[in-house]
Amino acid sequence: MCGIIGYAGDENAVPIIVDGLKKLEYRGYDSAGIAVFGEGGFEVAKQKGRLAELEKRLESLPIAGRMGIGHTRWATHGEPSDINSHPHLGSGSKIAVVHNGIIENYKQLKERLEARGIPFASQTDSEVVAQLAEHYYEGDLLDTVIKTTNALEGSYALGLMCLAEPDVLVAVKKDNPLIVGVSEQGNFIASDVPAILKHTNRVYYLDDKEIAVLTKDSVKFYNTDKEPLAKEAETITWSVDSAEKGGYPHFMLKEIMEQPKVVRETIQSGINIDPLHITAFNKIVITACGSAYNAGVVSKYVFERLCRFRAIEVELASEFRYKDPCVDEKTLVILVSQSGETADTIAAMREAKAKGAVTLSIVNVVGSTLAKEADHTVYTAAGPEIAVATTKAFSTQLVVLYKLAVQFALELQKLTPEGAKALLEEIAAIPGKITELLNHVDDIQKYAASCIGYKSIFFIGRNIDYAIALEGSLKLKEISYIHSEAYAGGELKHGTISLVEDNTLVVALSCCQRLYPKILSNIEQVISRGAKVFLVSNVTQAEESDKLSLLKLPDIHELFSPSLSVIVLQLFSYYVAANKGLDIDKPRNLAKSVTVE
Ligand code: M6R
Repeated sequence: MCGIIGYAGDENAVPIIVDGLKKLEYRGYDSAGIAVFGEGGFEVAKQKGRLAELEKRLESLPIAGRMGIGHTRWATHGEPSDINSHPHLGSGSKIAVVHNGIIENYKQLKERLEARGIPFASQTDSEVVAQLAEHYYEGDLLDTVIKTTNALEGSYALGLMCLAEPDVLVAVKKDNPLIVGVSEQGNFIASDVPAILKHTNRVYYLDDKEIAVLTKDSVKFYNTDKEPLAKEAETITWSVDSAEKGGYPHFMLKEIMEQPKVVRETIQSGINIDPLHITAFNKIVITACGSAYNAGVVSKYVFERLCRFRAIEVELASEFRYKDPCVDEKTLVILVSQSGETADTIAAMREAKAKGAVTLSIVNVVGSTLAKEADHTVYTAAGPEIAVATTKAFSTQLVVLYKLAVQFALELQKLTPEGAKALLEEIAAIPGKITELLNHVDDIQKYAASCIGYKSIFFIGRNIDYAIALEGSLKLKEISYIHSEAYAGGELKHGTISLVEDNTLVVALSCCQRLYPKILSNIEQVISRGAKVFLVSNVTQAEESDKLSLLKLPDIHELFSPSLSVIVLQLFSYYVAANKGLDIDKPRNLAKSVTVE
């Protein structure tokens, strides 16, 4: 995790880097720092805490320079502190480094350097990069970076500056994202597009072990044999506004409200991949982490019902990678990820490929590792998602998975062309129904405001309602810090119901008309044990009572109902957290893109 940015240009690098770090803060926010090339050498400001703390420090102790690097940290090695913040400098203050990733052999390297009398200042793995680079430096930063990275094991995206080369910024990556942006006003490196979108939409995506050498007027690329590489710049189509709050108090609320638009765009952009010939496979495995995994769980119900396929499994990527999975060339492995950089999902993809499986990634970030390495990629059109809690990316993942299921079912002859057409029309109607639902924001806000005192909130549902309950529960605990769990309604009586008492809220999902009587009896069971219930349903018989509050959803095909229930669950979590006054976009201990194990 962590976000890095660098700038070489004509302007003062400090405000450019601070602004970029604001866009990268979702990647980590326990400390931040900047190093610039000032009049007399490196000028460094590092500060524990949110970026705002660094800004305060820069106000009282300003630094300035036309080239610099910045970092926002999610601590892995060494507690959050000023000293452990990046940039790290070698002990001679000749090399400055920002790093995102984990240097796995840092202890061995550190011991070797310490044995040569080199003193270390921090507890981080990253400092070893600065110390090693300084140790190796013989007059050429590019040579030094090649030599240094050859010695590193683990993952890294690095930005380096050298005291002896005041015009040169060098960047390199392995297993962590890094882009290079080019503009008339200067050149940039960054962990992600939103950090530099204000300045340029022309970017190069670095591949592993590719090195970029930037000056204010030029960008050159090399491999680790120092051979020049010809790379093509890509034009980013995201608007500058898409990475700004646009008047909303939080990115999360803005991103919730964007859902009709981005879901429509995702549906319309279609599934542009070579035909997969699903009939050639005997198994589908969907693997992902967090909310993306929950999207996979929802889709399992859809794939099963529509495709009647022999074997459809959903696996947490962190489990899949270590279980010696039973996959082969007759398995289609679907990887779902907003960032395309989640370490466990990437590892799952590599494991699947090594076993001969065909891989299909569903990814939001163009040029990300999953997008580049999977055999096939379908992009979601969510645009940049900044809030740590995913909302719009999740919704776009759902519709891609629905469409894939319809496509496969047609190919497997489990659906007639007319049947498929009818389902695609249902899918096309989802954005309009989300808009309809968003008219009830005030009702949800009011109800959520009355829920901040609950110690525990359970989410229940049956079948596909259970699948989306998982996402509701994750969203709530992630941003409101209220304990929460999701259960299949029928499971309550097998243990969990013992936790239900007076101060418990149960959020019940019911969009399966045929299962309404079943969930209703679960609702009665929890009410009789003191719980209050919030029912989210489109079932005609559903009605309010003194212990039960109802939010009615628009009518929708059962299989696609998660696309509506999730909007209520997102807003519910959002307003619970907002009423508790929490830092919604940057919940404690979390980072958006989990690029470490
Ligand atoms: O970028 P990815 O979709 O691969 O991220 C996976 C999870 O880390 C992510 O969905 C996480 O669970 C969200 N913060 C939940 O809101």
